[in-house]
Amino acid sequence: MSTVGRVPTASVQDQFLRPLRDLRISVTDRCNFRCPYCMPKEIFGPGHAFLRDPQLMTLPELTRIVRAFRALGVEKVRLTGGEPLLRADVPDLVRALKELGIRDVALTTNGWLLEKLAPALRAAGLDRVNVSVDSLDDTTAGRLNGLGFNVSRVLRGIDAAAGLGLPVKINCVVQRGVNDAELPALCEYFRARGHALRFIEFMDVGNTNHWARERVVPAREIVERIGALWPLEPIGPAYRGEVAARYRYRDGRGEIGLISSVTEPFCRDCHRARLSADGKLYTCLFASLGWDVLGAARAPGSTDAELEHFLRRIWQGRMDRYSDERAEVLASGEARAKVEMSYIGG
Ligand code: GTP
Ligand code: 5AD
Ligand code: SF4
Ligand code: SF4
Repeated sequence: MSTVGRVPTASVQDQFLRPLRDLRISVTDRCNFRCPYCMPKEIFGPGHAFLRDPQLMTLPELTRIVRAFRALGVEKVRLTGGEPLLRADVPDLVRALKELGIRDVALTTNGWLLEKLAPALRAAGLDRVNVSVDSLDDTTAGRLNGLGFNVSRVLRGIDAAAGLGLPVKINCVVQRGVNDAELPALCEYFRARGHALRFIEFMDVGNTNHWARERVVPAREIVERIGALWPLEPIGPAYRGEVAARYRYRDGRGEIGLISSVTEPFCRDCHRARLSADGKLYTCLFASLGWDVLGAARAPGSTDAELEHFLRRIWQGRMDRYSDERAEVLASGEARAKVEMSYIGG
């Protein structure tokens, strides 16, 4: 039997008529970094209960679940974590997803293991990679990854991936007074190497990341500050519903992106579903509850048609738009327990 999945038959829309296009899969909730804005080490220390077998989705389970998503219109799958490259079977998973016919298989990584794994990922058919770099300065980078690790190894990983022909984008979470003075240096470094650099507004994800509005640098301000050094002009999205708003340098040398979930939310076009490493489906990054897809897949006698039906019903009922509602939620003082970013995959 062919391993290529059925051609999508019927796409599905949520309550705001948003189709399901992208699936972000957290393949592990573990990470080798402890960025304070994501996995503060006082919370994610030795006593933290990470997922373990058999809670985690296996490779055949993941493949089967993605096949069901594909039948509903998913064309793009992004592997995240935690740190996805901590999971040894990620290249096999990439290969399996490409064999299923997923057009765009991408990876978001902290880059620590990229130099070593880029060849296997490339050979498996990975389409592209996004790497987090918050600072080029070893002291600041070490503080931002929580463990004092040097950024030079991450930069070597980026060079290795790019050297193999993998398109690379850089993600930089901007915090006022922490790394915002470094934005020009980051721009210079990455445009010289031809990589799009995306600045992400510091978000109030999870419950433990000490988010403070004063530390958010609005995307508009970032564009003004960089544009004052090197004039910029907006360009259209690379694909419908792209998270980053793109700008190119007028001198023709490269582009930046702004991910402004706090000051300019983009929920209207949100086509993303998220699967945690234990197979729960979350219909928003800021959701509190997930649907137990892995449980449904493991139910005795469960068929692919039933799995598709289960996913379809969930997406059809979806009404999430947290970033649009953030101001009201925060003003109301309503305490919402959100899932942690490392568990759900950002
Ligand atoms: P591309 O496919 O290259 O456009 O990647 P991406 O920006 O969709 O994914 P990536 O993993 O690189 O994420 C970059 C940042 O965007 C991270 O901080 C994510 O948490 C954030 N992000 C991605 N999707 C969403 C979303 O649906 N909502 C919000 N609020 N943030 C998102
Ligand atoms: N706000 C914004 N972005 C974040 N990321 C992790 N935590 C946060 C946060 N609180 C980013 C990472 C990575 C991506 C998956 O999410 O830096 O680039
Ligand atoms: Fe790990 Fe990425 Fe979270 Fe940092 S932001 S702790 S690298 S998952
Ligand atoms: Fe989508 Fe939720 Fe992000 Fe809005 S806040 S863009 S609904 S994931």
